[in-house]
Amino acid sequence: MPGLLQDHVAVVTGGGSGIGEAIAVGYAREGARVAVLDVDGDAAANTASTIAAQSGKAIALALDVSQREACFAAAKEVAHQLGAVSILVNNAGINRRNPVAADADVFFKDWQDIMAVNLTGMLNVTQAFLPALRDSKGRIVNIGSIQSFVHVRTPNSAAYTTSKHGVLGFTKALAAELGKDGVRVNAIGPGLIETPINAQVRAARPELVQVFLDHTPLGRAGKPDDIVGPAVFLASDMSSYVTGTIVMADGGYRTI
Ligand SMILES: NC(=O)c1ccc[n+]([C@@H]2O[C@H](COP(=O)([O-])OP(=O)(O)OC[C@H]3O[C@@H](n4cnc5c(N)ncnc54)[C@H](O)[C@@H]3O)[C@@H](O)[C@H]2O)c1
Repeated sequence: MPGLLQDHVAVVTGGGSGIGEAIAVGYAREGARVAVLDVDGDAAANTASTIAAQSGKAIALALDVSQREACFAAAKEVAHQLGAVSILVNNAGINRRNPVAADADVFFKDWQDIMAVNLTGMLNVTQAFLPALRDSKGRIVNIGSIQSFVHVRTPNSAAYTTSKHGVLGFTKALAAELGKDGVRVNAIGPGLIETPINAQVRAARPELVQVFLDHTPLGRAGKPDDIVGPAVFLASDMSSYVTGTIVMADGGYRTI
């Protein structure tokens, strides 16, 4: 039986680890040819190897999404190697935890770095692939967060919270702008997902994890694979009348 993403070409930024890796592998399983883009070229190559080992088709490119010209060059390379892109997942992201009110210079550096990847990086990659996405009536999936809405219980991450609110704002604005072209733009809002991005804080501050779990009706942290279903849904024809929204995959976090 053909997969839900048969004949699609998908690009996943930050596809070398965690959520992006799971989405890249999941998309390939559904029949898409996948370009795995990551600032860590070896990690991207590992994901592409995993896909190849499962008889899927993938390429890997080293790309820092904050480097605008490199994003446009990557778009050309992906088109050359895989063909016209019809799905883009803006997943690459970083987080730092420092108070706004402590060391001003430290927080300012966090702010600049986080905005460069989580927001400007998302814009760079989106613009680089936009001509192809418009031609294919494509789909864009941006990775937001529970921090696209709230900041409680996530201390000292004001820059990250601001960036993830921005991801949701960009998702809505772009959906409104591109609807007439048949391009759908949505986001996913993961809750606490066990990946390298939070490995250190999970190890060092188990009490913070517990606070999260106490506010998660499903009573467990998420795994990267928990994000694959929503990501396939939003990229496939199953969501043909869905645009400008965010699908929360957070174990119900915002309900309590
Ligand atoms: N893990 C969670 O609990 C959680 C929750 C909500 C949202 N998110 C979001 O999910 C996305 C993926 O995070 P993850 O948890 O899988 O983290 P991760 O650290 O496992 O993966 C992030 C990947 O992005 C890559 N990356 C970082 N900067 C990059 C850049 N400038 N250019 C290209 N690639 C870059 C990294 O090399 C890494 O492979 C991020 O946007 C993150 O904010 C994660």
